[in-house]
Amino acid sequence: MCGRRCELRGALHALRPLAPKSRIEFEFQPGFEVCERVSAAVSLPRVSVSGLPVYRVCRRGGQGGSIIFSPRVPLALRSRMTRFEHEARVQATFDAVASGYDHPMLSSFDATANVVARASRLVDGEQALDLATGTGKVALALASQVPGAEVLGLDLSSGMLHEARAKAAAAGLSNARFVQGSFDDMEFGPRFNVVTCSFGLFFVDDMVAALTRFGLQAVPRGRIVLSTFRAGSFSPFSDAFLRLYAEFGFESRPPGWLRLDCEQKLSDVFEQSGLPRPRCTSHDFGCALPSASAWWDIVHNGGYRGMLRAMTAEQESDFKRRHLQDVQALLDAGTTRLDVSVLVATSEKQAVEAPLNAESRRSPSGSGEP
Ligand SMILES: C[S@@+](CC[C@H](N)C(=O)[O-])C[C@H]1O[C@@H](n2cnc3c(N)ncnc32)[C@H](O)[C@@H]1O
Repeated sequence: MCGRRCELRGALHALRPLAPKSRIEFEFQPGFEVCERVSAAVSLPRVSVSGLPVYRVCRRGGQGGSIIFSPRVPLALRSRMTRFEHEARVQATFDAVASGYDHPMLSSFDATANVVARASRLVDGEQALDLATGTGKVALALASQVPGAEVLGLDLSSGMLHEARAKAAAAGLSNARFVQGSFDDMEFGPRFNVVTCSFGLFFVDDMVAALTRFGLQAVPRGRIVLSTFRAGSFSPFSDAFLRLYAEFGFESRPPGWLRLDCEQKLSDVFEQSGLPRPRCTSHDFGCALPSASAWWDIVHNGGYRGMLRAMTAEQESDFKRRHLQDVQALLDAGTTRLDVSVLVATSEKQAVEAPLNAESRRSPSGSGEP
């Protein structure tokens, strides 16, 4: 019995490169049968896997058979993903949401973009780099507010960039360009007066290495402006989402932005990246939540959608039905406001470059969704 179980564990190591929604089948021989579903968590060397069903296979004279893991295994093994696998997942998520990302229920991104653009103090003749530009909200705010500046937007997702380019063309903005790529390996050199990144830094595991790289693209005295959500944003609706997600057997990790959800955490990341302590401002972009389906508009058109990609269509529809019941219960109990609180951090690179330190500490892997 133990031998069989170890064999399954061994096989799990080999599953790392599989794409989401893969179906993994373990066959076992006549003479064995599944006698017990042991737990929903297992520890493997260097990786803790939760939300993964573990079956005990016993020698009980059964007919043999198979155990099917689907589709949770790739998600569960996310912490062992390479950076490229992680980026492929992020890209697929945002390609999928791109056409709906500018939905009015996500207008806090637009409101933030205006704050970030103003905080950058970009002026005519300068160059700006907007990282994780998405559909270009910050890049286009900068390009329209400062027609004499040049703005470059960078993002992993071609779908998001398609939207950004279409909006630039529709607005007649010829001073905004967009390129596809990762801010984790960009090498433009120190030529930008302004480097912005709105709701993007927390997508990577190693935020210090990434922010260090942001600083390397700025000229001395260049401004670096980040935005993130403050603790409590989207609660209690997001909590209900994560609770049910875990109940469905999926690994429910806290959103990435919780690693950057207060002034202290922002300051720490800037300082560890060799950049001066930032000035932080706080902005309330909360709004009334008129209905449960309005909450689903946020889930469906934003980063949460990436978590749903691990589900089959049937699971997703069941999940949506049950989640919206929970959301309706919250609305009925009087929680009708959606809290969205945003922090904007602005730092100015030193006139003389301080030694930047994170390259050597850089981790090769990326982590999960926001
Ligand atoms: C929540 S959206 C924010 C988009 C935009 N900044 C805004 O405020 O609307 C996050 C964006 O980060 C992008 N992204 C995540 N990791 C990235 C990376 N390593 N390099 C470039 N873009 C990345 C995603 O593709 C997505 O478009």
